Amino acid sequence: MPKQSIRTRKNTALAYSASISFDKRLYNHDINGSIAHANMLASVNIISKNDAKQIVSGLENIRKEIKDNVFPWNTDLEDIHMNIEDRLHGIIGETAGKLHTGRSRNDQIATDLRLYLKTEIPFINTAIRVLQQSLLSIAESNIDTLLPGYTHLQRAQPISLAHHYLAYFEMFDRDVARYRDCLKRTDILPLGSGALAGVPYNLDRNLVAQTLGFASVSKNSIDAVSDRDFIAEFQACSSICALHISRLAEELVLWSSSEFGYLSLNDAYVTGSSIMPQKRNPDYAELARAKSGRIFGNLTSILTILKGLPLAYNRDLQEDKEGLFDTIDTMIPTLEVLAGLLVTMTIRKEQMRANVADFSLLATDLADYLVSKGVPFREAHSIVVEISEYAQSSNLTLEEIDPKTYQKFSTHFPENYQGFTPETSVSSRNLTGGTAIPQIKKAISDCKARLGKVT
Ligand code: ARG
Repeated sequence: MPKQSIRTRKNTALAYSASISFDKRLYNHDINGSIAHANMLASVNIISKNDAKQIVSGLENIRKEIKDNVFPWNTDLEDIHMNIEDRLHGIIGETAGKLHTGRSRNDQIATDLRLYLKTEIPFINTAIRVLQQSLLSIAESNIDTLLPGYTHLQRAQPISLAHHYLAYFEMFDRDVARYRDCLKRTDILPLGSGALAGVPYNLDRNLVAQTLGFASVSKNSIDAVSDRDFIAEFQACSSICALHISRLAEELVLWSSSEFGYLSLNDAYVTGSSIMPQKRNPDYAELARAKSGRIFGNLTSILTILKGLPLAYNRDLQEDKEGLFDTIDTMIPTLEVLAGLLVTMTIRKEQMRANVADFSLLATDLADYLVSKGVPFREAHSIVVEISEYAQSSNLTLEEIDPKTYQKFSTHFPENYQGFTPETSVSSRNLTGGTAIPQIKKAISDCKARLGKVT
């Protein structure tokens, strides 16, 4: 190890522990928290009204300096709280020292983070709503666009494309609800907990909560300074949402391939290849699919940071922030890009229709028809296998087999038997949650109503 002076070592250690490079992002919330605290201290006569006035005006000055990019950030001052407090001394002198009465950085940072998330979650929910709007508009213009529904990525049964995209609408609807729920547990004020044991002043915590717009105050000071469940929960909500994004994105990649040929992505959402002129690579959908990886990483990170931490505050908790910021910075643009990609893509209805005409997709319907005529299901199943083999060997679709041939396989088919079409298959599934057109129309108006509600 090279020889270093103790001064150099101390500087290296300081730089290692400093969080200012990333927690400066919390400055507005930190200042709002401090203003609410100072005004409350004056209202319960712990500091004078004049002191509070000076503190508030100094803090507003600092807010402006930061906004105007002229604030003298100092890494030696570790974090956002120390940077602001030190600058306050520089601006208003001695009185600045009164601001930290009845407060610790431990309850201060917990407050900042909660305020921050309270403002960010609604932005994410708005972005999800925009994505849902895109899904809904595709659904509205594709109620009678039929394609094969898949299980095991094998063609299974005919479905409406609207029904397919409304499945994603439901997933994202649950994500909005999950984020809202997370918001409820984030909406609690920790300030007034001190370092861990509470504070020996008669603070008015409810007044601070009211000023900052918190629904309630924390009930246990030890928990309040060490709890980061709300961040873990936020990362979990984001992971589930990212997982939905990833499934949707994967399907866009697959469906826009020439093997499927169901979609054509708009030029704005594909890239070319430097050597293969024919290429239209779905890079944006691929990136949206991949972003889930870093969001899951951020969830794993916060869970691992919290696991085994003894009560109460530990500096480990400082590591909660970068992942949190990264998730927000990843989720919002991903949702926005995906929403744009969806509304601009072209749907190749003919290709979907060609694939849905596949005999095998209607096999279940045929068997169900025989069952409805009193044939035991097992027997119906083997009759359908025979018809299917016949259709394949004679290269006919189900629609092309004539009624007489049906009768050869089973006398339960009437003389004028018309057979099934993808349309009759779809329209037979006319119950809540099914793919029949009247159900989809109902689902669309229900989805519209849900989108109309405030996020
Ligand atoms: N920068 C710290 C964090 O993010 C603030 C709290 C510091 N408290 C302390 N006791 N060192 O967690």
